[in-house]
Amino acid sequence: MLVCQCSGISDRTIRRVVRAGASTVGQVARGCGAGAYCGGCTEAIRDLIQVDAAENADEMGAALTTPANLRA
Ligand code: FES
Repeated sequence: MLVCQCSGISDRTIRRVVRAGASTVGQVARGCGAGAYCGGCTEAIRDLIQVDAAENADEMGAALTTPANLRA
């Protein structure tokens, strides 16, 4: 799905930049160009950053509560 009309950047590209460490709209803009122009997509970028953070928290929680990790 196209998120940034100005730069032609998809949600997949933004998520890849976020997975690589971007945690602000400015960092995403520097990483792929999304959000660097009119700013009309910044809310969607913030949403993608928050979704990624929530997914990472879920993964961390699952990893910490798996039996293999509880034995360590
Ligand atoms: S739509 Fe993303 S900067 Fe304009």
